[in-house]
Amino acid sequence: MDRYAVIGHPIAHSKSPQIHAAFARQTAQDLCYDAILAPLDGFAATVADFRKAGGRGMNVTVPFKLEAFALADRLTPRAQAAGAVNTLAFGGDGILGDNTDGAGLVRDLTINLGCTLTGRRVLLLGAGGAARGALLPLLAEKPAVLAIANRTAGKAAALATAFLSGAGETQLSACGFDALAGRHFDLVINATAASLADEAPPLPPGLYAGGAFAYDMMYGRGDTPFMAAARADGAVRVADGLGMLVEQAAESFTLWRGLRPDSATVLAELRRQLDAG
Ligand code: ATR
Repeated sequence: MDRYAVIGHPIAHSKSPQIHAAFARQTAQDLCYDAILAPLDGFAATVADFRKAGGRGMNVTVPFKLEAFALADRLTPRAQAAGAVNTLAFGGDGILGDNTDGAGLVRDLTINLGCTLTGRRVLLLGAGGAARGALLPLLAEKPAVLAIANRTAGKAAALATAFLSGAGETQLSACGFDALAGRHFDLVINATAASLADEAPPLPPGLYAGGAFAYDMMYGRGDTPFMAAARADGAVRVADGLGMLVEQAAESFTLWRGLRPDSATVLAELRRQLDAG
């Protein structure tokens, strides 16, 4: 049986084993997928042990995505752009590092939620790892505008500069939250960690254009603070990041196994469980 695992610290809360077990059942793949708690100073050693024991691949979560980036022998272009790795594949030629988070976001938006990005005005909130990971896949959808806004404006500016050469026709820009006053967007994506503190990013009112969509990378039962604030400010549709979680897993599974699972049924089951508490 082929072995996979998610590695992190903490890890007990991870939904990845349940998601990948469901994918494996669906596609009749003979594999097992565990959750491994690595000591904070023992990421590389834990990966090496898993690999020695016959492991084929790993998902990597907080706080090890940068260490995984450094550990990989080869990187996919999207992992290179993200500066972080959430998927490792072990082969005879070394360790491949990939990042499926941004692709998971875009698949959730475009396929599960039917939200078109091409030609639209998109606002990305945050300039940390989550925002960085989303930028290349978002730009690939060719939005008309992609504005990055962050509490610390300088970090947003650095991110925009780093991705400017890949922006193509998209008008890529950066600012602090206050400078958004008077602007309007069709889609606002929250990639800040504000929800962890049970807060919404402090945005000026009136950002949502008619029919606009608000998406939070975080998820939970009911609305996150960002989703509630977006509804109050006129967003017509809101969604949390549970679909992104399932889609990044589906993308990893596809990389490892060469076939794409049916993510919609797995997402529906996870949503049912989350709503039931
Ligand atoms: P992650 O990997 O989840 O992106 P990170 O790299 O630590 O985590 O980045 C956290 C992001 O959330 C940053 O953009 C941070 O803003 P700053 O760069 O100004 O620190 C943002 N953030 C965290 N708490 C926030 C809050 N309460 N309101 C708004 N933005 C917040």
